[in-house]
Amino acid sequence: MEAQMQSCLQQPPGTSLRAIAGAGALTLLLSTPSSLAQQPASDDSARQAFNNSCRTCHSMKEGDNRLGPNLNKIVGRKAGSLPNYNYSSSMKEAGFVWDQDKLTRFMVKPDEVVSGNKMQPYGGVSAEEAGKVVAYLQAASQ
Ligand code: HEC
Repeated sequence: MEAQMQSCLQQPPGTSLRAIAGAGALTLLLSTPSSLAQQPASDDSARQAFNNSCRTCHSMKEGDNRLGPNLNKIVGRKAGSLPNYNYSSSMKEAGFVWDQDKLTRFMVKPDEVVSGNKMQPYGGVSAEEAGKVVAYLQAASQ
């Protein structure tokens, strides 16, 4: 950029500075979308999937329990194990550790994984959405 500026200054008089500034702005405009495109597209749709289906009741922040328990580091966390959240007894006694597979199945059909849980009213998501959400849960854990 500095080299570019210098070469601008060395232009013969009469070259419109405004045209040069315009070209600079254009370069910026053109480079912005491509730098965004470098982010994997799935990042965004994963966050979106979580926002659409889970965020009303769940936060990703440690200690931030809402209607549902926070989901920070949920992959690898024991089901029903947060000390400061009032789980249903079925969730408290589920007796397993959440992994990707369990989480995906729970999102699709909560009752088949932890029967009698109180994650209500929750409509369920498709397996495809659930896969995206799991990716988000892992990426967003602090
Ligand atoms: C309508 C509110 C609501 C929505 C929407 C919701 N949940 Fe829940 N969730 C709850 C409640 C309430 C519990 C506690 C269940 C219990 O104790 O039986 C829970 C529990 C959980 C647990 C168990 C946590 C633990 O500490 O063992 C996971 C995992 C979970 N939800 C994931 C999700 C995901 C992922 C989504 C989005 C696809 C989602 N939930 C959408 C209310 C909700």
